[in-house]
Amino acid sequence: MKNTFSLNKSCADILGIGLFRYSLLPKEKFIATNSTLPKMLAYPKSEFQKKKFKGLFQNAKAKEEFFRILNKEGKIKFFEAVLKDKKNKNVWVAITATRLVNKNKSEYLEGIVENISSHKEMEEKLALEKDFLQGLLDNIPDAIYFKDRNNHIIKVNKFYARGVSMKPEDIIGKTDFDFFPPEQAEQMFKDDYYVLRTGKPIVGKVERTILKNGSWNQVITTKIPMHDRTGQIIGTMGITRDMTTYANLERERLAMLINALAVLGKALEMRDPYTFSHNRNVAEIVEKITRKLGWDENRILGVKLAAELHDIGKISIPLDILNKPGKLSDLEFQLVKEHVIKCYELIKDIEFPFSLAETIYQHHERLDGSGYPRGLKEKDIILEARILAVCDVLESMTSYRPYREPLGLDKALDELKKDSGSKYDQTIVEVASSLIEANEKKPFWLNN
Ligand SMILES: [Fe+2]
Ligand SMILES: [Fe+2]
Repeated sequence: MKNTFSLNKSCADILGIGLFRYSLLPKEKFIATNSTLPKMLAYPKSEFQKKKFKGLFQNAKAKEEFFRILNKEGKIKFFEAVLKDKKNKNVWVAITATRLVNKNKSEYLEGIVENISSHKEMEEKLALEKDFLQGLLDNIPDAIYFKDRNNHIIKVNKFYARGVSMKPEDIIGKTDFDFFPPEQAEQMFKDDYYVLRTGKPIVGKVERTILKNGSWNQVITTKIPMHDRTGQIIGTMGITRDMTTYANLERERLAMLINALAVLGKALEMRDPYTFSHNRNVAEIVEKITRKLGWDENRILGVKLAAELHDIGKISIPLDILNKPGKLSDLEFQLVKEHVIKCYELIKDIEFPFSLAETIYQHHERLDGSGYPRGLKEKDIILEARILAVCDVLESMTSYRPYREPLGLDKALDELKKDSGSKYDQTIVEVASSLIEANEKKPFWLNN
């Protein structure tokens, strides 16, 4: 026993592990220790050996638990406890010990003591950081989630959980398909896979989501990839902010502006009913085409509003010119052309979240530069204006004018197709044509 102890002693000293043999019966006392154990607790060896083992515990409960396990099992493994050193300072240790009973009924405790203070400090630091992060996550009024590579949720904050009326722990392992309608969940999956596949984030994506109570909300979402230490992508993290209140305010502000502009439309209608029904019809055609193109609601609203107002500048043109039954003189045509600039001047300073004034300004421009007022070409003409141009021509040619009868849908389409790609945007002409085709070759804007 003595030789083994000596061998262990030298190894244990190098490793910084305390060794001890302690008599429990007939008398409690240390029989032997290596030099590491007294050093661990800041005692000189001779003084330490006079200490009682039970007296080293800082906490009575831990001491009772230690001896309860030892008495029951006869041994104990890696029992974590706080011992007190000579200056009564805490030392975290892990004790592994065996109770030995001799033939003469004397009892011993033999074991090792490892100092785990630095490990415990690290553990406490990590726990603190974890609490700090959790506190931060739970107090942010945005929905935050972490997902694995299969898009299964591995963690959410309280705000997310409240949004889906569940406890955070019950959400683990679920996917977007458990909370959202299939089409929405599918889009969310696509976005997550994009981030996983490319390693690129999706920043500030605005989307509308349906809540459990059936109401819609507007959110802005950012998704970023999560990496492990080797740089491998192991999942995604997302943060979603509810913008519904802000979006509603924006919508209200926009509605007020639109109502104010509608007054202009009314004034024009009172003066020239042809122009007004023309604007309305063009807006209807614009809406159908942009929906077919898959535009979002705000963009559609913008170009529709441009359509409703595009000829409002005609309010400044004398009625006898506007409704002249015959051909216009050069000077008269020059005056008519000015309606574009007049309208642009009227609305250019009003702040819109879309290019309303520019769309109107460009609605008589043509891809080959033959339009007015600036003779813009190709890509200098914004898509909204290209759409408005096609819709404008389509409606004008199929409607009654004081100076001519309607030319008919076939003629209008022939005209557009003839100049498709040279004056008019080819894609838009094709979409308009397919919509007419699908409506039994009748004007789809007169359906309602
Ligand atoms: Fe016009
Ligand atoms: Fe027009």
